[in-house]
Amino acid sequence: MSEKEFDKENLDLNTIVNYCKRKGFVYPSSDIYGGYAATYDFGPLGVLLKNNIFQIWRKWNVTSRPDVVEIEGAIFMHPKVWEASGHIGGFADLMVEDSITHKRFRADHLLEETGAVKDGSALTPEQVDDIVAANNIVSPDGNPLSKAKRFNLLVKTHLGPIEDESTVAYLKGEACQNIYLNFKNVLETTRKKLPFGIAQIGKAFRNEITVKQFILRMREFEQMDVQYFCHPSEADQQYENWKQNRQSFYTDVLKLSPENIRMRQHGEDERAFYASDAWDVEYKFGELGFKEIEGLHHRGSYDLDQHAKFSGKDLSYLDVERGNLRYNPYIVECSAGFTRIFLAILFENYFEEEVDDANGNKETRIVLKFPYNLAPFKLAILPLMKKDGMKEKAESIYADLLAAGISVDYDEAGSIGKRYRRQDESGTPWCLTVDHQALEDDTVTLRHRDTMEQVGDQGRVSVKNIKDYLNDKAFEG
Ligand code: GAP
Repeated sequence: MSEKEFDKENLDLNTIVNYCKRKGFVYPSSDIYGGYAATYDFGPLGVLLKNNIFQIWRKWNVTSRPDVVEIEGAIFMHPKVWEASGHIGGFADLMVEDSITHKRFRADHLLEETGAVKDGSALTPEQVDDIVAANNIVSPDGNPLSKAKRFNLLVKTHLGPIEDESTVAYLKGEACQNIYLNFKNVLETTRKKLPFGIAQIGKAFRNEITVKQFILRMREFEQMDVQYFCHPSEADQQYENWKQNRQSFYTDVLKLSPENIRMRQHGEDERAFYASDAWDVEYKFGELGFKEIEGLHHRGSYDLDQHAKFSGKDLSYLDVERGNLRYNPYIVECSAGFTRIFLAILFENYFEEEVDDANGNKETRIVLKFPYNLAPFKLAILPLMKKDGMKEKAESIYADLLAAGISVDYDEAGSIGKRYRRQDESGTPWCLTVDHQALEDDTVTLRHRDTMEQVGDQGRVSVKNIKDYLNDKAFEG
């Protein structure tokens, strides 16, 4: 299959799911028990990619900015938090139930799948019931459906030795709540002045009704949040700034194609209960089309007001520059779903190309064209043969690069051609081959993943110069 024939535009999810498992990016959780709905584990390559995403996100949003600090909050929080936040009362999806099998379905998803509505996210229970009746909609198993009911997404458990109402606890439904609770602590310990942001990468748990589409909709996932606190009069401008900032993050920093990224404003009845305005950053996931990867919310002072009210603690900011004015700051929220970004990066960089094998026959190579900073391994070391000291030389280069903190792979199994393909499929930008000449003059071949060409003087690079190639510039150039 040539690159032209490979249908990148409509890349299907199954190809990526299989690729992820085969290469060790993502495994179904509890795989040997048949998996467990909407939970997944990250394998060795997945963890490397994950950490690279975290590092890049952190650099862009926190460590390169003077006005953002980062915290890491606990998963368990006082149950009153979820009352105050509005999640116990309002964090619900509409569901309908198959009256025979009792299987439950998210009402908006079911109505969208039957074609009865294009976007069902803002429907009331009564509207769902009317649409079901008017269109004679039945469950996927062909049975009548129940009336639509609200289904709370918070994951409930008990903490402590007694299981009764007094020990009910919730797993975080959204990661950001620790940030609001720690606003005063951060203010006092960092002496930050408005406007400033608090960032967090944290787990969130949701008892999602619809559990398909791989890591797009999970019951346990990470959110990467920036909550930006400002004076109410500055909130609109900050909101605009962050909208632009997010666009740059996805296209300029993570290098997702601009045509695959779009910003979509929520309709009035689609917005979360805490937001007065909301935009989604969406990515085009091949055949699946555009899906949300990050939500921007204009939260006003809702969260600080609510927690001040429920805790009885003053969470206001003393604004010396505004004549000792006291107020609860407004919050602009940027909340990204880690697994959705992870998946977008795989869709973006996955290619199938027709190439010649060592004997001049056509073969398909799967290649992940990750930017250098995202690539799980930056370089793979391949001794041409295990004999004549090549293995030892390769191992010694491997040890040196590992000691220098570079993410390097080592592979001595199979033909060089097969090993190149394996590394292409892992998205490794560089392959270093140790051959007979390397033993004589301390030079090696360094092959570039995308061009499949060897770089350097007459195709050779001195071992002491390898590190010069291992950066974005060399990779791009
Ligand atoms: N604190 C705001 C908040 O939680 P959200 O729009 O519900 O807002 C933010 O979630 C992001 O979290 C979404 O843009 C999405 O990327 C991700 N997300 C939400 N539910 C998810 C799920 N079930 N699985 C994976 N990611 C999810």
